[in-house]
Amino acid sequence: MMPEAPRILLLGATGQVGHELLRCLQATGPLLATARRPLPGGKAVDLADADAVQALLADYRPQIIANAAAWTAVDAAEENPEACWRLNAGLPEQLARWAAEHDALLLHYSTDYVFDGRSRQPLDESRPTAPLGVYGQSKRAGEEALQQAGCPHLIFRTAWVYASRGRNFLLTMLRLARERDRLSVVDDQIGSPTWARLIAQVSSQALQQWLAEGADPEDPCLGLWHLTASGQTSWHGFASALLQQARVLGLIERVPEIHAIPSSAFPTPAQRPAWSVLDNRAIQRAFGCHLPDWRSGMQWCLQELAERGQAT
Ligand SMILES: NC(=O)c1ccc[n+]([C@@H]2O[C@H](COP(=O)([O-])OP(=O)(O)OC[C@H]3O[C@@H](n4cnc5c(N)ncnc54)[C@H](OP(=O)(O)O)[C@@H]3O)[C@@H](O)[C@H]2O)c1
Repeated sequence: MMPEAPRILLLGATGQVGHELLRCLQATGPLLATARRPLPGGKAVDLADADAVQALLADYRPQIIANAAAWTAVDAAEENPEACWRLNAGLPEQLARWAAEHDALLLHYSTDYVFDGRSRQPLDESRPTAPLGVYGQSKRAGEEALQQAGCPHLIFRTAWVYASRGRNFLLTMLRLARERDRLSVVDDQIGSPTWARLIAQVSSQALQQWLAEGADPEDPCLGLWHLTASGQTSWHGFASALLQQARVLGLIERVPEIHAIPSSAFPTPAQRPAWSVLDNRAIQRAFGCHLPDWRSGMQWCLQELAERGQAT
């Protein structure tokens, strides 16, 4: 049985989800945050270095490992498959083995890109995976590593993640809207834009619930869940909605023309699933949480940017 305030190791604290987890998990127990570069109160660790990871685990002996680190550069993964696999498959496997040996819980994230995008029905957790590129394949291998190691785990598949910091579509659109009169955005990829804070809040709630119920390694709430905002849109729909709202909040002076283009007009090294809406009903039932429409998180995130004084 886990103590009331378990030691938590957070990997990837500078990422979109990691940064939000750092805020949400502080109250759960003593937390050591790690990142590639030094961060205040944290530890710098290159997670591509398996020996450094092993030393970190041996020194800190976490009871909960929250792995928000990943190789998320989908196109660059095609050129750098080995580096991508180390972060997305090798690291989770290493963490899962250690967690299984030491009865630690592993919290981990995966992606809608484990699917091939052919479905037109929201994809539930039982749907067969068929990733299209190196990133999706490596993330699927990471999921399997956790499942095979037999450690207590929570895997949250999420999608189209954005935050008020980091590299993401929302911030890119805001920057381009300030620079250009006209944007072209693909309208034939459909998904659910998901605010990183929603992911962190639900993750924290799930952990709290598991701890409150006795930290049972056989708890049926452990396992793999789909954690996205509700509803669906295209990248073009997301861009249009966020720029309209950004204009209302004074984050941009005017909304540029936004032209809808097919993916074929914007070729990328990695093929992306055309339709990857995840069915998020099971996680809402299991943890009693509400996953609002994607527009809610978008509005909160833009509001936060406006309050931070990032208006034009
Ligand atoms: N972004 C999306 O749209 C999306 C969609 C679906 C699922 N997901 C999944 O959600 C999870 C969180 O994604 P995110 O968007 O928060 O990712 P992110 O913003 O790209 O953050 C990734 C984190 O991993 C760290 N990292 C990468 N390589 C490292 C290394 N060698 N050593 C140490 N740290 C390293 C990064 O550090 P630096 O800051 O130093 O680079 C960063 O802190 C991931 O599992 C991802 O696969 C993301």
